[in-house]
Amino acid sequence: MQKVQKYIEENKERFLDELFELLRIPSVSADSAYAGDVSKAADFIAAKLEQAGADKVEVCPTDGNPIIYGEKIVGKNLPTVLVYGHYDVQPADPVELWESGPFEPVIKKTKLHPDGAIFARGSSDDKGQMFMHVKAFEAMMAAGELPCNIKFMIEGEEEVGSVHLGTFCKENKDRLACDMVLISDTGLIANDVPSITVGLRGLSYVEVKVTGPNRDLHSGLYGGAVANPINILCDMIASLHDENNHITIPGFYDDVEELTDEERAEMAKAPFDLQEFKDSIGIKAVWGEKGYSTLERVSIRPTLDVNGIWGGYTGEGAKTVLPSEAWAKISMRLVPHQDYKKITELFSNHFKAIAPEFVTVEVFPHHGGQGAVTPTNTPEYKAAAKAMEITFGKKPIPQRSGGSIPIVAMFEEIFGVKTVLMGFGLDSDAIHSPNEHFGLFNYYKGIETIPYFYQEYAKMKK
Ligand code: BES
Ligand code: MN
Ligand code: MN
Repeated sequence: MQKVQKYIEENKERFLDELFELLRIPSVSADSAYAGDVSKAADFIAAKLEQAGADKVEVCPTDGNPIIYGEKIVGKNLPTVLVYGHYDVQPADPVELWESGPFEPVIKKTKLHPDGAIFARGSSDDKGQMFMHVKAFEAMMAAGELPCNIKFMIEGEEEVGSVHLGTFCKENKDRLACDMVLISDTGLIANDVPSITVGLRGLSYVEVKVTGPNRDLHSGLYGGAVANPINILCDMIASLHDENNHITIPGFYDDVEELTDEERAEMAKAPFDLQEFKDSIGIKAVWGEKGYSTLERVSIRPTLDVNGIWGGYTGEGAKTVLPSEAWAKISMRLVPHQDYKKITELFSNHFKAIAPEFVTVEVFPHHGGQGAVTPTNTPEYKAAAKAMEITFGKKPIPQRSGGSIPIVAMFEEIFGVKTVLMGFGLDSDAIHSPNEHFGLFNYYKGIETIPYFYQEYAKMKK
């Protein structure tokens, strides 16, 4: 392992330069204008895998963005780890709020990152974290110390729902056969409080349309006598939470697992500073479901949030209009056992049922995904915990996250294997937001830790 770590130390600068190169490619999956860059990013990663020593590297076309595959099989009797990550990124909007170009990576120091952080879209989610695996692999290959078989599957549609990944996995089941999946696409509690993510929420995402009159109307000539679809939509949305901030959709909580008092007490032990939380996002008070702590609200409880709402006139100045239509995009974060298809249907039925006769309501489901919980009593979890203990000098805390990576449940369904979510980001990385960044400490800690994971995993599977 000394040889591996020495190689990493000696190649630190280049590892950073290469990540910068990747971050300069705006591989935004949500916007087809970036299709060329998406395929450039895929080719870049394939080339890096090949240079690192992977075999059978292929940029596999799908009906959407390509998936990169590569492998190194070192022994028939050694365990096989499938590394998953994504090279697509969220749009950079609103671009004007970035202090430096979203695709012009720079290092800046922050309070949480006194050694500097890489500012660029995708630096933390997920190019930076995915690339740690490519570089750790390179280091293990260069040192001639690869204790497990590795397969890489890096996709380009995670941020738009991984629509083609399921088909790819099913069609390539033999090629992808593995003992476990390893992902770095989540975070740590803090740089001095290592943690491993053991739960992810599911997601149901819908768009709703409320239609009133057959055309936009003069709000003076008609206002007062015709229901305004925006007003109605707001009423309908407001009714989706009750006075305790419980979601009012019938059946919504049916499959929600209530944690035992012991489990909740265990969760409450995780370090969390409410004042710091509020200060970090500039709010005076937290909000949420009655009876649950902030940490619980963002992890073990489901949510319903409007992500965008529009209609009528939103341009400069004032236009007096009673709009014909109102729209909203609504997401529901779900907890394990809640089925996203069932929840989407419950929402759809309920939302139509509460529509007053003045309007018609349509619901358009988008992508979604199931939540996941990963066990802590498996060799793969223990190997990750040991690896982190070695490099952080502290045992990591298992923690459920509020975010979603729908493919985790899918991997279990298709391959029957468990996933380890060994992420190195921080909640404060501003992923999906302007000024996304990833600590240099975090990038290098990831590269350093990953080889120990393989070492420990190989030992445990002997
Ligand atoms: N990497 C994130 C998810 C994440 C981040 C989980 C931090 C836990 C901690 C991922 O890229 C993501 O953004 N997922 C989407 C869901 C997807 C279906 C678009 C999300 O959570 O909004
Ligand atoms: Mn991600
Ligand atoms: Mn993301």
